[in-house]
Amino acid sequence: MAMQKRPCLIDTDGGVDDALALLFAQHSPELDVIGVTTVAGNTDVHQATENVLRVLELDGAAHVPVAMGYAAPLEGHLERVTSIHGVDGLGELHRFKHETGESRYAPPTYKPVDTHAVDLIIESAKKYSENLSIVTLGPLTNLAEACRKAPEALRKVDRVVTMGGAFAVPGNMTPVAEFNIFADPEAAQIVLHSVLPITLVGLDVTLDVILERGIIEAGHAHIRSAKSQLIADCTELYANFYKEADDIHGFYLHDPLAVGVAIDPSFVKMSHYHVTVECRGQYTRGFTVADRRKRRRVFGQPPNCHVAESVDEDRFVRFFIDHLWPGLN
Ligand code: BDR
Ligand code: CA
Repeated sequence: MAMQKRPCLIDTDGGVDDALALLFAQHSPELDVIGVTTVAGNTDVHQATENVLRVLELDGAAHVPVAMGYAAPLEGHLERVTSIHGVDGLGELHRFKHETGESRYAPPTYKPVDTHAVDLIIESAKKYSENLSIVTLGPLTNLAEACRKAPEALRKVDRVVTMGGAFAVPGNMTPVAEFNIFADPEAAQIVLHSVLPITLVGLDVTLDVILERGIIEAGHAHIRSAKSQLIADCTELYANFYKEADDIHGFYLHDPLAVGVAIDPSFVKMSHYHVTVECRGQYTRGFTVADRRKRRRVFGQPPNCHVAESVDEDRFVRFFIDHLWPGLN
């Protein structure tokens, strides 16, 4: 009997691991990607939108509606990370050419829908309600606005899985803050206090899931498709960065793990905590403060989200490989 696919909306800032997460979700028999919304983060929102359209078109999924969202965080200015994701957010794809000298990556022909990202999120929440999973892979600007505009509709969704936060580990943007939260702390604070059924998949778990660089090469040799070529090309700079910065031979599957948790929450172990976002601190802006005290049940505030604290990394990485390069494992 065919597996019932669960509707899933993905909100993304169009980076390299976002592209992997999108392909992973698209190739998952468990999920039906009913829409993608974009937000400024790894790159500006126009580029993020182009990146998503490119990935979907190349993967033969140009029917999925893509809606562009906010170009800047609720407060402050956009912090981009070109050193990790490249100037285009997708590993600088203009570098890759066919033997004829033509670019390997022509601009996508597929266009975004006219609807704003926030409205697509709200429409999807109303349409799919308790069947809908929302997965966020970038700053939470769009989701915060959706929560402000239509809180009742948003609260009914089945789950929101967010790649974001650093709880008992250092940050990656500052010593304490993870990028997606740091890029729009005010939005993260609104979302966390909107009584959504939210799970935070932060650096505590994503730093444990590393895809070895050799897998990408083996995957491409095994499949030789436009998709495996794109994965090989867009991850090159990304892997170079992590070799230099963290001395690893591959890269973290931050955003794909959030999709993995939307598919199967048992990949991680979670605790239910009260989490607040530091929006002011001179050195700690964007820090996710979880009340992990033993005495929190007596003296603390009620929990508002589930926080992933450990991950079955081997099982997850195998699962991810099986979805992107079937038969490789
Ligand atoms: C997050 O930041 C971005 O650079 C990645 O795409 C991921 O969403 C990891 O901190
Ligand atoms: Ca991202």
